[in-house]
Amino acid sequence: MSVKVLCVAGTRPNFVKVAALMRCLAEHPLFRTKLVHTGQHYDADLSGIFFRQLRMPVPDIELEVGSGSHASQTAEIMRRFEAVLEDEQPQVVLVVGDVNSTLACALAAAKFSLREPFDWGRGSRSRPIVAHVEAGLRSFDEDMPEEVNRKLTDAVSDLLFVSERSGLANLAREGSSREKVFFVGNVVIDTLLAARAGAATSGILDDLGVGAGAYGLVTLHRPSNVDDPGALRGLLSTLDEIASRLPLVFPLHPRTRRRLEEASLSLDPSRWKLTPPVGYLEFVRLQSEARVVLTDSGGIQEETTVLGVPCVTLRANTERPVTVSEGTNILAGTSRDGILRAFDEARGMPRGGRAPTFWDGKAAERVVAVLAGELRDTRLLSLEATG
Ligand code: UD1
Ligand code: UDP
Repeated sequence: MSVKVLCVAGTRPNFVKVAALMRCLAEHPLFRTKLVHTGQHYDADLSGIFFRQLRMPVPDIELEVGSGSHASQTAEIMRRFEAVLEDEQPQVVLVVGDVNSTLACALAAAKFSLREPFDWGRGSRSRPIVAHVEAGLRSFDEDMPEEVNRKLTDAVSDLLFVSERSGLANLAREGSSREKVFFVGNVVIDTLLAARAGAATSGILDDLGVGAGAYGLVTLHRPSNVDDPGALRGLLSTLDEIASRLPLVFPLHPRTRRRLEEASLSLDPSRWKLTPPVGYLEFVRLQSEARVVLTDSGGIQEETTVLGVPCVTLRANTERPVTVSEGTNILAGTSRDGILRAFDEARGMPRGGRAPTFWDGKAAERVVAVLAGELRDTRLLSLEATG
């Protein structure tokens, strides 16, 4: 029988991951896949543009949940996704990353009772199998909402797909059984490598009036960096010192734009190029040609590693330590001294990418090969009983 998969995406970094997975799932004859968009991100520049540029299928199901507090957003996604589970009766729910949509759909699926139990080779099931792509990452920072999402999603998932070796160690330490865990590599890099040629033709540098190698690229959106006006002011004052030495391009996440407005903070346009969020191809081009990237993003730490562009991470920790040990990432913290020191180090760093194990463009293929191996003998128990 074919296996029904619901693949879930809700935010900008989810779309980048799901693009690679959807392509491979669609090519495999065992699977009938539907894409569910939760609507956690809904602005055209955080959502629609990714579907067009990454040639993703239009979502089959849109939950249109929108923004909200953690509890209300998570609860609303669960409530709406449960209705989808009722209609669709999937054997597999595939979630990616660490956002509220990830946890909400994993948790709803883990407690959902299907009308028709099935056997999948590992025994009979009356609940969908929950598969988590990007499992095992840990920042060990309990104040980070994503850390809660990561741990809880992994705890309710049946199949854990790991992007870097630290994830294997974290899951082993937490007692995940080894049969659940698969080291497949990084689907973010699948999409990056597939998009590089398209990104190279982007005219974004000319549009912004910056030259290759002659600017820094900044992104900020972590609540710990932007939600507290004092923290945001301090960070921007240090970055402004850097901007006086190297112009900074700063595509503004909507959370950050709102915080800047609320705090009445403005940045000198002679050294800052502020833009709304840019499309994926434009952003890959901006990263590729930047002298240095300064960011608190998770995905950007990974992309700069493979692009070989120095990255200063404006956080005290990272859940992606391979980007430091093998890549171009420097963990700067958020103090003035730490950031300026890291910036100087990054400027002196030779450019050159080094891809960690399995960050090779084939991670989604590995995920789908594992899923196919696990699910190839799936059969509905009702058919067995009547047949
Ligand atoms: C979310 C994820 C974060 C991820 C980031 C990627 C959680 C807890 N956080 O953070 O892990 O790194 O996405 O970008 O899941 N907004 C808009 N338009 C939109 C979406 C949001 O204006 O399309 C504004 C709203 O004011 C909203 C705020 O941005 O309240 C925050 O959005 P939300 O999805 O809650 O969190 P992010 O900061 O985007
Ligand atoms: N990105 C983009 N345009 C932007 C900023 C980021 O396309 O203006 C892409 C970036 O290349 C990466 C992803 O968005 O693939 C990272 O998303 P974000 O930083 O919002 O989330 P995180 O990875 O921190 O969860």
